[in-house]
Amino acid sequence: MCGIIGYCGPKPTARVLLEGLKRLEYRGYDSAGIATVRDGALTVIKRAGKIKDLEGIVPQDLDGEYGIGHTRWATHGGVTDTNAHPHVSQNGKIAVVHNGIIENFQSLKETLEERGYRFVSETDSEVLAHLIEDFYEGSLEEAVKRALSLVKGTYGLLCVHADEPQVIVGARNGSPLVLGVGEHEMFLASDVSALLGHTRQVVYLEDNEVVRVTPEEFLTTDLRNTVIDKKVELITWELEEIEKGPYQHYMLKEIFEQPESIKRAMQGRIDEEYATAHLGGLNMTSRELLEVEQVVIIGAGTSYYAGMLGAYVIEQLARIPAVAELSSEIRYRNPVVRKNTLYFAVSQSGETADTLYALRELKRKGARVLGICNVVGSSIPRESDGGVYIHSGPEIAVASTKAFTSQVTAFYLFALLMARMRHLSYEEGLLFIRALREVPERLREVLEKAPEIKALARKYAWVKNFLFLGRGLNYPVALEGALKLKEVSYIHAEGYSAAEIKHGPIALINPETPSVFLVPHDELREKVLSNMKEVKSRGGKVVALCTEGDPDVREIADDVIEIPAVYRYMYPYLMVVPLQLFAYYMALELGRDVDQPRNLAKSVTVE
Ligand code: F6R
Repeated sequence: MCGIIGYCGPKPTARVLLEGLKRLEYRGYDSAGIATVRDGALTVIKRAGKIKDLEGIVPQDLDGEYGIGHTRWATHGGVTDTNAHPHVSQNGKIAVVHNGIIENFQSLKETLEERGYRFVSETDSEVLAHLIEDFYEGSLEEAVKRALSLVKGTYGLLCVHADEPQVIVGARNGSPLVLGVGEHEMFLASDVSALLGHTRQVVYLEDNEVVRVTPEEFLTTDLRNTVIDKKVELITWELEEIEKGPYQHYMLKEIFEQPESIKRAMQGRIDEEYATAHLGGLNMTSRELLEVEQVVIIGAGTSYYAGMLGAYVIEQLARIPAVAELSSEIRYRNPVVRKNTLYFAVSQSGETADTLYALRELKRKGARVLGICNVVGSSIPRESDGGVYIHSGPEIAVASTKAFTSQVTAFYLFALLMARMRHLSYEEGLLFIRALREVPERLREVLEKAPEIKALARKYAWVKNFLFLGRGLNYPVALEGALKLKEVSYIHAEGYSAAEIKHGPIALINPETPSVFLVPHDELREKVLSNMKEVKSRGGKVVALCTEGDPDVREIADDVIEIPAVYRYMYPYLMVVPLQLFAYYMALELGRDVDQPRNLAKSVTVE
């Protein structure tokens, strides 16, 4: 979704804003703009395109004492220079950047037009600029509050007035906003990645809060002017973590980080002595955990697939019925919440609107909802009853990779904990732990196969349609493999249970539609081999990911990528990484914008 940034302080404002926007670009990247104020004069520069295009038109000597910036992912109105933010009020004094959707913008617009305001863009956000001007009587903060009291919808917004030197007013409702507290300077942004390198001290704003900042201080109030005391927290991410280093793309860097990020997700959470896991963040007593009779996991996209895999493992290892559901569906289904059902909301960003709203709906109905999230302090963990932070570090590439394997790790630990409280023996628990601990090392071996996978991508780069097929634990991995390929290479790909193709998708098989089979050495191997033969006998090409030294697979498949043998639960880790690499190299081969694929945004804060 859109990214916003604001700065007041002694540094060159335009430069700080542009730098911040570059770090936020993964949130949305169809247009960008900045507004700076110097000596009471507001300058706005904006255009459709990427931040580097904007940078090209910002004069070298542009400076300001304070300002705001925006990177857009269009919702209302096409991708044009005029629709780019900041939006300016009719009198040219107020500039606004906005992330979210103003649902009642049409009626507000009509009222404002009747009052003589002329709109220049097609966006919903422009109403904010005029509305604030309409209420302005010498205090920007006051005008923002009065304007917001009429607004229905979601917003993370920042606003400056040319006549109020070094003042930025920010407000949040449904879209994230974080304040960075520096030495004689303040920052406001959609997420902390824009603040790193400047300050580690942050304040997370909550819904319905308004903040007024100057270089020396900030004041947080609600819309009724009640002062709210905020805690200053410390961020632990390092700047290097959000830099590409020697990698050509963030996606590749993040794929290669997985041995380490998985380790971090496990760190301090494994208890070998009792062959169990410690997940203190769940905020649940042993008795409460023992009372759980069902687990429901909600998420979107990759997080949903991690939840699907989590549900399989919880059910198989802990023998607790578990299912995953799309957040976007559960919310509107008027779900029945049963007493001993435990819910998990999975989200890398912690801001996905579909998941956040579903969480709220479930909580409203009395559910206990735990979060599995990466971004510390984001909305979902803050609104959950407890949960697990996966500690992947910042995930910048729009296509999610390392978050998936860490979300899965959180579920594996939870499954182990629940299983050990029930029937799982000490020996079985230990076997599971040892196998899980081995994953990072085995993954390093898989990553060494990158050149092989790159060659495979070169061979198949002409293909227009792919099928990804797996069974059991590897069925969600097949879905994830197809999603990754679609997202970054724009090649059409479908994921199915390998068993399911004979119920329809087999009609698609022809020499131009290859099938990628996941066929590890597990209890479903024989069945998947039969499914592979069904495809081959219909003239389909088969690419197989299999366990090292499996002659039967080699005999059937046209191309084979081998992975090390591991305990059956751990295959999904070793299967998903080659699929991530395959998607990456296919995209590279086709010259796609790997880190910022068309039409996508990193954290989707609208429904
Ligand atoms: C896939 C991808 C999306 C996200 C989805 C949920 O690569 O990035 O499908 O997984 O939008 O996002 P989070 O996990 O932030 O809730």
